Amino acid sequence: MTMQRDTWDSKLGFIMAASGSAVGLGNLWKFPYITWENNGGAFVLVYLGAVVILGLPIMMGEIFVGRTAHLSGAPAYKKLGGKGWSKLGYLGAAAGGVILSYYMVIAGWSLYSFWQCLGWSFGGYETPSSDAFGTFLGNGWLQIGLTALFTLMNAAIVLRGVGRGIERATRVMMPILVVIMLYLVITAMFMPGRNEAFAMIFSADFGRMPAVGYLEAVGQAFFSLSLGLGAMVAYGSYMKKSDSITHSAIWVVSVDTLFALLACVAMFTIILSVPELKAQVTAGEVGTVGMLFITLPQLFYTQMPGGVVLAPLFFILVAFAALSSTLSLGEVVASIMIDRRGWHRKKAVMITGGIVFVGSIFAALSLGASDALSSVTFKNVPVLSTIFGTKTGILSLLDHLAANWLLPVGGLGTTLFVGWFLKNDFILRELGIKNSNVIFNLWIWCLRVVAPVAIVALIIAVATGKDFS
Ligand code: PHE
Repeated sequence: MTMQRDTWDSKLGFIMAASGSAVGLGNLWKFPYITWENNGGAFVLVYLGAVVILGLPIMMGEIFVGRTAHLSGAPAYKKLGGKGWSKLGYLGAAAGGVILSYYMVIAGWSLYSFWQCLGWSFGGYETPSSDAFGTFLGNGWLQIGLTALFTLMNAAIVLRGVGRGIERATRVMMPILVVIMLYLVITAMFMPGRNEAFAMIFSADFGRMPAVGYLEAVGQAFFSLSLGLGAMVAYGSYMKKSDSITHSAIWVVSVDTLFALLACVAMFTIILSVPELKAQVTAGEVGTVGMLFITLPQLFYTQMPGGVVLAPLFFILVAFAALSSTLSLGEVVASIMIDRRGWHRKKAVMITGGIVFVGSIFAALSLGASDALSSVTFKNVPVLSTIFGTKTGILSLLDHLAANWLLPVGGLGTTLFVGWFLKNDFILRELGIKNSNVIFNLWIWCLRVVAPVAIVALIIAVATGKDFS
């Protein structure tokens, strides 16, 4: 049941849509806060290393699979590799479902922040008390309501299918988001905490990074670049043969990394510049998990000319950035049922969306509303403690499982598939290159040796090293 596939309007179309998938809460919400938790510099360095030696080659691999098969997910692997390899697609869909279930909750926060900023813009800004965010997290009904709202928005778009809509929307939104981000960073550069922030982000002291930081940095690279679950296979399947995979991938990786670093610089500078905020964050009074939503309003409303207008706009764009990511996740999850079971798109979206939403409810209530869900931990359980480390609460557990285990394992599958299973001649032919060149060789050897060895070594290190739990 292969249909005539749409293709992106232009090479830029792919880059925009793929960057839309990549740039999201991973950059704006997660990267700054886990960088903070891992004490900065060394973590950032490991992250950048992972982006270059794992992220870029695997992204090219996924795009290659999609573009060559002209199919997404499991059917793509099946067409090129046979039934066994299609499992990689199913693993990806499972990972996508897990990620969606908690991602929707955080995405809901952006809607709330937008609403809150509207209030501040019209009624005047008041620095929230240190327990305001905790109270918000602990409000179960509000959390579920916001999650439901975001889930419905996402489903409404996925129902219509990945089409021109996403391409058009991201084409408008991404550049605005970049501009506001740059403006935020420039404004932050006039604040006193800037040097301390730079030192924290850009000078590496490996002694200060907890051992689990290695795993989290690699996991974050996969998460932020939308790798390891087939999202890029899906987007690559709409790509024209004439567009360069290498260029496109380099663009997406660069844009994504830039966003993450900018967000980090802005937020760290604010925290380190505002004494009360610094005291609260350092003392753990305001959880770092809400950093994005706590710190930026401070900057918008107290330092920034025009901040009153830009603050609500910014959070709407955050919501859009999240939406362009959840769209790709939703597509991966729904298309598995469409392809495998032959379900109608509507049925697939409703049913998978419903299942994911049930997961979301657990995640939404694990932020304080339900003591039981908020305090689940496996830190004293053998085996499980290796997987989940010291994470506590359903949302954190799901995030840890998906980003640090499911995605790297999915990525490992892609490296083996493209690096070892597919024949070089076949790849060269598909790429339209006569003889292998330096870039091609570098890419293939990364996929064959460097990336798999790095991922396997990390997994073994985590599984055997007591340090990591
Ligand atoms: N890359 C997205 C982000 O950074 C999240 C995502 C992960 C999207 C995996 C698709 C697939 O927010």
